[in-house]
Amino acid sequence: MCHNCYPAVATAAPSRRSVARFLAAGAGLTALAACTPDAGTRPPSSSSASATSASASQAAAPSTAGPATSPTVTEPGTTPPAVPTSAPTPTSPAAGLAQQHSLTDPASPWLVVNKHRPLSPADYVPADLVQPNIALAVSGEAAQLNSTTAAAAEQMFAAAAGDGVTMTLASGYRSYGTQVATYNSYVASRGQAEADTASARPGFSEHQTGWAFDIGDGGGACSFQPCFAEQPAAVWAKANAHRFGFVVRYPWMFHEVTGYYYESWHLRFIGVEAAADMSAKGIATLEEYFGLEAAPGYL
Ligand code: DAL
Ligand code: ZN
Repeated sequence: MCHNCYPAVATAAPSRRSVARFLAAGAGLTALAACTPDAGTRPPSSSSASATSASASQAAAPSTAGPATSPTVTEPGTTPPAVPTSAPTPTSPAAGLAQQHSLTDPASPWLVVNKHRPLSPADYVPADLVQPNIALAVSGEAAQLNSTTAAAAEQMFAAAAGDGVTMTLASGYRSYGTQVATYNSYVASRGQAEADTASARPGFSEHQTGWAFDIGDGGGACSFQPCFAEQPAAVWAKANAHRFGFVVRYPWMFHEVTGYYYESWHLRFIGVEAAADMSAKGIATLEEYFGLEAAPGYL
């Protein structure tokens, strides 16, 4: 089981029911093997952070299998619900940083996308997708990140390797269309309510921005599973990712704020200054750091 810090904000305090739902969801994750990269079939990755494999074993992550009918999603080109806050609130912890960035522009490192804040446009595509020179467990679009995130990932993976920690890129960029397939797979496996606790609806995923990616450890047994939190890659990332500009975006027991259960594998780039500031202040979520409302469910 995972043992992590308790929520620091009142809104994140878990109810007994929410904890029970988390445990149930965790138990159900094994049923999602078809929705995530099949790490179990991958060969162990090189211990060298620069060991990029152009022939990475598995195609981009998620299965394209899904139900014939889609659940409610935001269609590309439609006007999403209002996203009112485009900058950190004046009293938020982030307001004190020297350099400020937009919270609504998908090309901004401070973009906050959650269940209250869809991407605009919904079918956004980063202009600078590149394949980082790191150990890859996927290929194709899933092996891509935006150029800033890719450079930071190269530094972080090299540092992890220097500490003897094997880290792989398990899922990077996802287009709107890929997110449709990913989300539909979750819905097919678990139903929409449970799917919404683990997979973003199309137009609501950080993966679509190139600012986020999932890490693996080359082993696969715990990939995308609750037990990944206890693997060296996740332990190292939790302790060190901020030094390279990353945060663990969906931390333990903050699902009432972020809308998602703990994803120890999902890292999000926000820049070194902000990530280090969040770490130093003990702030776990982007919502709290930028002074935004909690987003436990879709509006
Ligand atoms: N698993 C995260 C929430 C996503 O689908 O973007
Ligand atoms: Zn992710």
